[in-house]
Order: sequence, then C-alpha cells, then structure tokens
Amino acid sequence: MMMISLQELCAGIPLHPLPPNRGRDEGVPHAPIRTPQLSAEEEKLALENALRYFPPEHHSTLAPEFAEELRQYGHIYMYRFCPKIHMRAYPISEYPCKTQKAAAVMHMIMNNLDPAVAQFPQELVTYGGNGQVFSNWAQFWLVMHYLSAMTEDQTLVMYSGHPLGLFPSHPGAPRVVITNGMVIPNYSSRKDYEKMFALGVTMYGQMTAGSYCYIGPQGIVHGTVLTVLNAGRRYLGLEDLAGKVFVTSGLGGMSGAQAKAAAVVGCIGVIAEVDENALVKRHKQGWLMEITKSLDECMQRIRKARRDKETLSLGYHGNIVDLWERLVEEYEKTGDLLVDLGSDQTSCHNPFSGGYYPVQLSFTEANEVLCRDPQVFRKLVHESLCRQVSAINKLSDKGMFFWDYGNAFLLEAQRAGADVECKGGRGTEFRYPSYVQHIMGDIFSLGFGPFRWVCTSADPSDLKVTDQIAGDVMEDIIAQGVSDAVKKQYKDNIRWIREAGEHKLVVGSQARILYSDQKGRISIAVAINRAVASGQVKAPVVISRDHHDVSGTDSPYRETSNIYDGSAFCADMAVQNFVGDSFRGATWVALHNGGGVGWGEVINGGFGLVLDGSPEAEQNARTMLSWDVSNGVARRCWSGNRNAYDTIIRTMEEDRSLRVTLPYDIKDRTVLDAALRDK
Ligand SMILES: NC(=O)c1ccc[n+]([C@@H]2O[C@H](COP(=O)([O-])OP(=O)(O)OC[C@H]3O[C@@H](n4cnc5c(N)ncnc54)[C@H](O)[C@@H]3O)[C@@H](O)[C@H]2O)c1
Repeated sequence: MMMISLQELCAGIPLHPLPPNRGRDEGVPHAPIRTPQLSAEEEKLALENALRYFPPEHHSTLAPEFAEELRQYGHIYMYRFCPKIHMRAYPISEYPCKTQKAAAVMHMIMNNLDPAVAQFPQELVTYGGNGQVFSNWAQFWLVMHYLSAMTEDQTLVMYSGHPLGLFPSHPGAPRVVITNGMVIPNYSSRKDYEKMFALGVTMYGQMTAGSYCYIGPQGIVHGTVLTVLNAGRRYLGLEDLAGKVFVTSGLGGMSGAQAKAAAVVGCIGVIAEVDENALVKRHKQGWLMEITKSLDECMQRIRKARRDKETLSLGYHGNIVDLWERLVEEYEKTGDLLVDLGSDQTSCHNPFSGGYYPVQLSFTEANEVLCRDPQVFRKLVHESLCRQVSAINKLSDKGMFFWDYGNAFLLEAQRAGADVECKGGRGTEFRYPSYVQHIMGDIFSLGFGPFRWVCTSADPSDLKVTDQIAGDVMEDIIAQGVSDAVKKQYKDNIRWIREAGEHKLVVGSQARILYSDQKGRISIAVAINRAVASGQVKAPVVISRDHHDVSGTDSPYRETSNIYDGSAFCADMAVQNFVGDSFRGATWVALHNGGGVGWGEVINGGFGLVLDGSPEAEQNARTMLSWDVSNGVARRCWSGNRNAYDTIIRTMEEDRSLRVTLPYDIKDRTVLDAALRDK
C-alpha cells in the first residue's frame, strides 16, 4: 500500500474515494476495550455523532462499520481513517502551512501519535492508558487541514478532540485553544466519563497528550531521576545509590522511564510489568537491561547485583503484587530486606478499565473479565490493592521507604479499604508521602518545574546546541548568586543537561526536558530564541512544560498536596493559568479535567510557545513565562508556604510591576482558640 504525503494528509478527510477499511493493525498494541454500558438510545446517539463528520452518501457504508467498533471496542475510533503515513514529527519546513506556528503544532501532534512514542497509536492514545490526542481519526484529519490552512488572524478552537473550527482572531492571540473533558462538576464521575467518551463528546486528555506537548518518556526520566536521587538523599542519607534496590511497577508510557532512571542514577531498579508488549518495547529500546519471568531468578539477580553494586534495570514479567509478596517471603525466610526504596506506577488513575491488573488473574484473563463482568473486576482490583498494600506495609515496617508516584495509588488503595491511613495527618495525607512535595523538596514553591523544548527542525544537532545553551545559562545564573535551595536544584539540572545527550533519551521529536525556575526558564527561552534568530539553531523551537507544574495543576493529592489553607480542592490556579497564558503570548493553550490522578480528581493546563527568533517571541517568552510561574508561587505563598513567600518576594524585587497580596502570619495562635471559645 502506498504511503500518503503530508500534502495529502492536510487536504481534509479523504472521501473521494473513501480509504479502504483495513480494520485494526494487529502489529501495534491496542487500548483495553472500553465498557461504557450505553443504552440502545445512547448507542444510536454515538453513531449519529460519529456520522456527523461525513456526507450522507457515505453513511450506509460507515454506519455498520462504526456500530461494530462501538460494540467490539466500546468506542468509535474510525480505524478506516487511520492514515497510511509514517506517523512522526517531520521537520517543520515539510508541512504545508500559512504560518509556521501552525506547522509547529502539526509537528507536535504527529509526535504524540508516532507509534514509537504513543502507547496505543491506533486509538489515538499517547500515554497513561487513556490519554487521548483526539477521540477519533476524523478529528485528526480535520485538525491537520485547519492548521495547514490557518492564518495568523485565526484561532482553532478544540472541544475535547473536536475541532469546532477556525475563528477570526489576531496575530497576538493563541493559534489554538484546547479544552479537554470540561464538564459540569456534578457530572464528572467516572461513569459519566465512560458514557460521554463513547458518545464522542468528551475525552481524557491526560496532561500532555491532549495538549500535543508529550515528548516521550524522557519527560519523566528526568523527573524520576530527580525523585530517586532525592529519595536516596532524604530517606537513606546517600548521594550514591550503588547497590540500593528500587522496586516499582509499570513499564508503560510514563512508567517505562523508571527503568532508564534506575540506570542513570546507578541503582538496581526492579520493575514488574504484566503486559509483555510493554516490557519487550522497553527492553528493545535499551531502557530495560534484563528481563525475567521467574521470581526465583529475580531474587537471585537482586542478591548478586546488591553484592556487586551493579547498575541494573530488571524487568519482571508478572504482577507487582506477586513481586511484593515474594520480597516479604524472602525477608521472613532469610531476614534479608532486599528492597530499600519502593513505589508504584500502574495506571491507578484508571483502575477499573485496564489501568491496574489484579493479581488473581493472568493478563489475558483480566482483559476478558474486565469486559465481561466489570463488577467482578472491580472487586478483584480492590482485593489486589489491599494485598499489595499489606506487603508494602510489612516491608516498610522493616525499613523500606515507599512513596506514591502521582498515580492515585494510595487514593485508590484507601478506597479499596487498604491500610494507608496517616495517623494524625491532614486531609490529603496518607501513610506514605507523595513524591511531588515530600521527595522533590517542595520545588514548586521555588518555581521549579518540568520545562521543556522541542527543536522543530527534527535535527539532533540543533538539540545539542540548545543543550549547551541551557547548561551555560544555568551556570551563569548560579554565578550571579542564588539561594542555597535554588543552587542545589540548579546543580542537579546542570548535571542532567550536560549528560543528557550521552544517555540517548530522545524518542520521537528532538526534545529536551529540564527542571527550571522562572529566571532559568526565561533566560533559556530568550537565549534559544536568539540562537534561532542568528541561525545557530536552524528552525523554530517550541517551548512548553508538563502540566504537572508550579501553576498548571490543581490536584489535591499530588501537585497541590501541601496546600493547607483549605483551598487544595479549588481549581482557580489552573484555570487562571490557562487564561493568563492565552493573552500573554502562548501559541496554544490547553485546559483539562483529569490527567495523572484521574477524571474529576484534577484540573490542569499547559501551553506551547513557538520561538521563531522574532523580537515578539522573546517578549512573549518573558511575559508569559513570568506569569506561568509566578501565578502558582503567589498562590502557594498565600496558602502559607514559606519557600513560596521568599521566592515571590525576590521576584517582586526583580520586577517592580509585580505586586502580590502577601499573607500576615498569626504570631499568637492562642487568639484563635480564645476567640472560638468565647463564641
Ligand atoms: N510520576 C509522574 O510524574 C507521573 C506523570 C504522569 C503520570 N503518572 C501516572 O503514572 C501512572 C502510569 O502512567 P503510564 O503513562 O506509564 O501508564 P501506562 O498505562 O502506560 O503504564 C502502566 C503500566 O502498568 C502495568 N500494570 C498495571 N497493573 C499492573 C500490575 N498489577 N502489575 C504490574 N504491572 C501492571 C500496565 O500493564 C501498564 O503497562 C498513571 O496513573 C499516570 O497518570 C505519573
């Protein structure tokens, strides 16, 4: 079959003739079957909704096919329209377009759907099991068409995967405004989501999937490296983790990075994964050094690696609960505590639809039961979570340190009835800490977060130049003088960026992640923009960040888990961030319900900004990035956080036009009790 060109891809939905229906490609992994349990009326509505994208002459051909997809897979993906093209981020110059900004968006979209990057490419899922770029393939074709035709006087409006259209705007406005999963709060239950997704009217955009800013597992390798390093410092008092064992689960989209991170920090990472496809993908990629199906072998290998202080990433093909229980057994039999650090990165934000596989069933059986009997599946997940926590508790009582990896593991375990209570803790705390605040060291309050950029030339030599620029910029900032807390963060990040090229972390687009604060982000963006202007970097660079950041995400058990003024369940910060970025120069902005910890549990947003070397791009980077960081720091300061207070004071000193409302301390807390008693 002939491949189509980018020009054909941007020509709109192919209708004359319709492409042949090749069905699903069995050569790529597929999303778990969705179980929306639609009524007959709702099924009809889902079908009607899907057919809206096509003229009536094709309805008799497409209706039975779409109905079959709905029955078989629980969603209408429109497999017939999955384009016959090598899906990847092409150099920006190859996209047909009227503005380079739109071409940059196309570059990012195609990266999110690249089979080397995406978890379930044919279901348009980038990561996290259900992180959709679009809901169906008709939307993809339409979006590519709109982007190739748009001018700087238009904005593309995206409603949960659906392109509402190009609307007149102006060159200073975002070129794309995306909202994903925005529903009326009372209708934000998981059940509502399953139905609305099947109807094709909403979707789960995760964080960077639905905003086109995913850069492959590298994004999380960096975060995981910092997390494991900091966990070692904090819990084990060690800088060097040689011979220390980190046990966790998941080798999927994000979780796969744990294997690489273990190798980067030089410890022994042992990662359980039930899905052979995911395991083999990471092994072939070289991120997982060894694999085994045998727990006996696993134990022997851990012992040897500990003895020899080897750097190792070992994939165990099996259920994480079996691995934890075996580690308990080993301890009980021999007194050897074979694990020092532990976590979990199954997709617990989506536990009943294939995110978490219960230990009582094989992988294949689990997928069957999930579709056949969702209630039984749910019960098994709950039992499995309780067994997992019970084993973790036993090992942690003996000295292992465990943390929640931002996947709602502890939240779901609590809902399942597991013993994860934090005695005397505050509302959002559990028996084990969440990695964001407790391990990473309250970095968000200092303004640090996962900043990243993508070289749209697709040329590795451009990435090398930008790595060099970023490292030099950070060294300059340190030389100008920063606080000790900030210097520590910078030092870890300088080491990261200086070694990043050698670690061959790029999967898909030529992208780099780097944790940085406001000053660092702006200085790096400005320096890169100037390099684009001078031709040192050959094509525009997109800057962006994970939504999981200082200001981007309101998530009471993760990013905002240390907000103690009662506002942890409020989402003003993330919404304000999205709006504020949109009129301060972002090229595109996105706001999502869900992401990370699950539908209804979090609101998060992000942006893309194209650095094309122009003075306007430099100005946009300065204005937008300062808001994009200071918004969250100011909010964290208002909630009583001392680091955030100091950070925002310093920022106000540097920028006199910033004036933040500062909280007064309650010096004498007895006035509170006295006042309430008097009442
Ligand atoms: N730490 C972070 O910064 C961060 C960032 C983004 C997302 N997350 C969260 O981490 C989770 C994982 O993300 P992902 O993109 O890797 O998801 P994913 O679905 O791609 O990967 C999870 C993997 O866990 C495996 N798995 C499920 N149950 C298992 C079990 N009982 N035993 C062994 N393996 C099992 C699955 O087969 C799957 O491959 C999600 O909940 C995501 O929201 C964390």
